[in-house]
Formats: sequence, structure tokens, C-alpha cells
Amino acid sequence: MTAKILDGKALALKVTNELSEIVADYKKRGLYPKLATVLVGSDPASRVYVNLKKKDSEKIGIDYEEFYYDDISEEDLLLLIDKLNNRADIHGILVQLPLPKHIDTNKILEKIDPLKDVDGFNPLNVGRILLNISDLFPCTPKGVVKILDEYNIPIEGADITIINRSNIIGKPLAAMMINRGGTVTVVHTKTKNLKEKVRNADIVIVGVGKTDFLTSDMVKEGAVVVDVGITREIDGIKGDVKYDEVSKKTSYITPVPGGVGPMTRAMLLENLIICFLKQNDCAR
Ligand code: GUN
Repeated sequence: MTAKILDGKALALKVTNELSEIVADYKKRGLYPKLATVLVGSDPASRVYVNLKKKDSEKIGIDYEEFYYDDISEEDLLLLIDKLNNRADIHGILVQLPLPKHIDTNKILEKIDPLKDVDGFNPLNVGRILLNISDLFPCTPKGVVKILDEYNIPIEGADITIINRSNIIGKPLAAMMINRGGTVTVVHTKTKNLKEKVRNADIVIVGVGKTDFLTSDMVKEGAVVVDVGITREIDGIKGDVKYDEVSKKTSYITPVPGGVGPMTRAMLLENLIICFLKQNDCAR
């Protein structure tokens, strides 16, 4: 079996083209969606991500403002979030993670107005996902589900193993897939018989940040593999999947680059528009 490619780049382009039209329509009516990003410190990867968010926003006509600090106290960062919460011209607030150690990340995420929480990381929005009453989902899990839906890969009734237990990816994705009727196993470094649990899955989502981590002996023949891993190497971005061998055994697979990455970026823009519409009392 040779896997069909889950083309995240193409789907992301489709989504962003649609969003461009929505944005243009609102701008004609004098309404300007705007994203604010907050970056603290000099982590090079975070700088790259924030620059991409600026570029993506501008490409589809979303206004953008960046707040950058070499360093800032927790107290001042909370005051900044408060100001952004109260600014009517800003519809989405994204605080790039990780934050420096002297800042309590949870305190900051809790401070972001849930209506402006484009990342979907505020505890209220996380809780809403668990209760299956959410309309705002973190970007990477949302991108994963959207790409599976686009290729008509059923989640209901599927055995799904997620190799990631983070607040950003594994936990919300598990909840979203349970809500859709999937049977979800979340595995991590402390899991016993990890290989067995992965090999049992109809759908494997892997995000561990280790190149060539997922090998063909770990996946079932015909499984669907979604690679959320990102490792920057000299010759480009690599995922977690040993692509050459795994793609020969599976039914569908996401490439890296060109899989989940572009979808995550597109979902942020979609979330910004969802937040914008809610703040303008427009039903979507
Ligand atoms: N750092 C790594 N991924 C993310 C993300 O999705 N959102 C934010 N805010 N920071 C991140």
C-alpha cells in the first residue's frame, strides 16, 4: 500500500482564500479585523512563528499589531493583556509561548478575554471543549481534525492514538476526537507498551519533536498517520515520521512540510475571524 498524501498546504490555501473574501467584505462595510501578537524574549523559533503570523494576517487583509519585549515582568504583561482586552479595535490576542520562566503562563492565558482568545488556551475555552459546547478550538488540533474531515476519514468509531499530551495539542485533540465518537488513547514517555498502543490505531497523530521517531513497525497496515512534529534541521523542517517507510504501509499520511503546519497557520486566521464576528454580534 502506498499512502495518499493529506495535502495540508492545498487545504490551507482554500481556507485562507475563503477568509480573504470574508475579510474584504467586512472591510467594505468599515469593519477591520485585527490580530495582536505578544512576544517576550529572543527565542529564534518563536520569532519565526510570530513573523509568519504577521505575514499570514497581512496576506488575507487582517490588520496586525505586534507587542515585543526583550523582557517584561508578569505584572506588566498582565497589564498589557488588560489593555488589549479593552481595545475595541483588537479582536484577537495571541501570546507566543513559551514565556520566560519568571512569568506564570497559566496566569497570562487566564487573563486573555475568552472572546479574544484566538489560541483557544484560556481555561474557559478549554473547559468548553471538554463539555462539547465550544466554537473555538486550538489551532493545531483544529487543523488536524479539518484535514481528516476534508479527506472523509471517519473519526467516529476509529481507534485513535495520540502521541502527545500537551495542553496545546494532545489534550484538546483527545477531547475533540472523543466528542466526535473516536476511541482515543493518549500515549507519552511514561506509557507502557507504547508501540503496541500505536500499532493498534486506525489513526495515529504524532507530535514528539524527534525526527524519524515513528517507524513502519509501529503502525498498522492501512493506518492514517498525521505528523505534528517540527524539528528544524540544516536542510529544512522535519517531522516525527520516518516518511519513506511509513508511507509505504499506511493509507493516508501528512507530509512535513506541507501537512499540519500550514493548517495550523490557517486555523489561527479562522479563529481570528470567529472572534471578530462574535465581537461584532454577527452569527457565523
Ligand atoms: N508556541 C508553540 N505553539 C504555539 C501556539 O500554537 N500558540 C502560541 N501562542 N504559542 C505557541
